[in-house]
Amino acid sequence: MSNHGDRIRDFFDRAASRYRNDPDSATNRYFSERLYLAIDLASPGRNDRILDVGCGTGLLYHQLCDPVRLDVGPGRFEAPKNYLGIDLSPGMLAKSNIPTSQQKEISVANYHAKTEASIRFDLIFALGLTTYLSTKELDAFHAILSARIAPGGQAVISYTHKMSYDFQFRDWLNRRLGSWFPADSSLGRDFSVLATTPEQIADILPEQLSIQKVEWLSPVFPGFSLLPTGFKTFLTKRDTDNRWRGDFILLITRR
Ligand SMILES: C[S@@+](CC[C@H](N)C(=O)[O-])C[C@H]1O[C@@H](n2cnc3c(N)ncnc32)[C@H](O)[C@@H]1O
Repeated sequence: MSNHGDRIRDFFDRAASRYRNDPDSATNRYFSERLYLAIDLASPGRNDRILDVGCGTGLLYHQLCDPVRLDVGPGRFEAPKNYLGIDLSPGMLAKSNIPTSQQKEISVANYHAKTEASIRFDLIFALGLTTYLSTKELDAFHAILSARIAPGGQAVISYTHKMSYDFQFRDWLNRRLGSWFPADSSLGRDFSVLATTPEQIADILPEQLSIQKVEWLSPVFPGFSLLPTGFKTFLTKRDTDNRWRGDFILLITRR
């Protein structure tokens, strides 16, 4: 694995103890907002073949076990049989409730070469993953989407928004005052992260893929959620570059 990959794996192995494995107890409302929006965009069905890239502690898996979500009727519980979660951090995977047969410790960089090329998925999710990829890995990841989305399938992917005041402020804090924060937190990390815009992603996506929808998340920085709603609406209405928004989620299909 690359140096970058080693660092990211060590970072998440250390951070795993702070992560939760069910969305309602997630430490930051941002995680649940991202998860619920992603699920609403994709509407997963009970029999869909699902690949969760960078599955971490299994928040998505947990939510897919929800009987209402999977339409198996109240009181009945049916875990998604065709789900596979992959992640490079053994610490994050160990914290999850994903059955061992449905999880795989592997990096995005190696996935394509190390798995059967004919395997396809109806839905591919990657929530919070791309932030931690190198630009080369991002290309490898998009190549996975292009090769592994089944006909009629789709992908729901989140990206850190480079232009947002939210990201810029947090990145500034990390660069200037990173040593004040725990080394296993996003403000104390000792590596740079990948931030982009929807336009940049549209430019680099393989031509077989197309963006169907762009959805915006709230900023991660808690200060923004404390602003009065009317003022937030005022800011976002005039915000043509989406600087007052948080990260974005793309709904991607294969042509
Ligand atoms: C911020 S966490 C998000 C976890 C989960 N998707 C969620 O929504 O809670 C990012 C995850 O991506 C994993 N990850 C980072 N780089 C990766 C790579 N190159 N290959 C596979 N997984 C990676 C990390 O180990 C971590 O578990």
